[in-house]
Amino acid sequence: MSEKDERVAVRGLRDVAAAESKISYVDPNGALYYLGYNIDDLIERVVYEEVAYLLIYKKLPNMQELYNFKTKLVSEMKLPHPIVENIKSVPINCCPMDVLRTQVSHLSEHDPEGKVFSEPANIRRAIRLIAQVPTIVATLYRSLREKPVPAPKKEFDLVQNFLYMLKGTIPNEKAAKVMHRFMTLHIDHGFNASTFAARVTASTNSDMYSAVTSAIGTLKGPLHGGAGEKVMEMLDDMFLDEKVEEYIQGLLDDKKKIMGFGHRIYKTQDPRTKHLRDIVEDFCESFTTSYFYDKCKRIERIVYDRKKIYPNVDFYAAVALDALGIQKEFFPLFFASSRISGWVAHILEQYEDAVLLRPSQKYVGELGRIFVPIEHR
Ligand code: SDX
Repeated sequence: MSEKDERVAVRGLRDVAAAESKISYVDPNGALYYLGYNIDDLIERVVYEEVAYLLIYKKLPNMQELYNFKTKLVSEMKLPHPIVENIKSVPINCCPMDVLRTQVSHLSEHDPEGKVFSEPANIRRAIRLIAQVPTIVATLYRSLREKPVPAPKKEFDLVQNFLYMLKGTIPNEKAAKVMHRFMTLHIDHGFNASTFAARVTASTNSDMYSAVTSAIGTLKGPLHGGAGEKVMEMLDDMFLDEKVEEYIQGLLDDKKKIMGFGHRIYKTQDPRTKHLRDIVEDFCESFTTSYFYDKCKRIERIVYDRKKIYPNVDFYAAVALDALGIQKEFFPLFFASSRISGWVAHILEQYEDAVLLRPSQKYVGELGRIFVPIEHR
């Protein structure tokens, strides 16, 4: 009989480095770097497309390169007609993340380059997906409101067009600036669960649509990108209005997780939180946002005092999206509309690494069981 499996399983792959990567570094001491640039040095000085370009081409673009990249992205903000029709046919009570996952998968049937699997073709595919994911989100958002989705404007960049196609009105400068910062803060984050899922799929040399579909399905979970929607549900909960302390302590007494708090890597503040908190503060002239913001600060203190854990990216991101008038069921889709750039960058890196991601396991089941034919069971 085989020897007992002496290997040690690492629960949750905690602290396991599954592969090498040059795309982003999540410093447990509370810093985040994209290709070596600290986000604190980038956030007020770049637009989202600059960072997307950085992730794909490994350098920040010059003016001409950025202009060409922006133009290319906007030119790709269109969907094949069957996909638009498919989006229009979804039931009103659909789960928007399910629609996004399905339509990204559907895009593979309409890829203008078919099954060509080369680095240049995959880079072109990556750029199309960076443009088409927000387009799917905007198309769904409008379709559920039985409103047409306007065509992108050549004079707008990807982010301005995303807001324009979503709302049907010209975005003001403040909304566009907020969305650029929001999407820059969400664009990549090491081997988070959805990115790792994309890499595992890509490691089998499966196609980019399959890998992104894996990532979307993974991001949807409330322990990952689905947390923002749960944060808003918590903040909206009428009971929380009167007794924040009692509400939060009650959840903690029941061993429940407070959505928007904690992180597998950061041992201190998530470096994105301060920037998202700043974004929310910019909206506090609105009573509702100011009301939510005050609740958030109280929840932060209660959770830290009790559990010594901090808010993660989803906590204040939820209030920022609410301030932009986005319904909470779409929060994970906004996360995906930015993280698509990180996902495709990691998929390209995984293709280059060209190794199957296939861990071992510690088998703790039975061995050597005696087979009994069915007539004697
Ligand atoms: C994202 O990985 C990434 O980089 C993800 C992300 C990205 O940009 O891609 O940063 C985006 O997904 C952010 C996380 C969004 N999810 C949530 O907000 C859901 C709530 N958070 C938790 O479920 C949790 O913090 C995780 C899932 C984020 C991390 O879980 P871990 O690393 O497995 O930590 P754990 O569950 O083992 O908790 C360690 C301790 C425990 O205390 P003890 O039982 O040892 O006393 O911390 C406690 C936990 O109870 N804890 C929490 C908590 N998170 C951890 N307690 C209350 N509320 C929480 N949210």
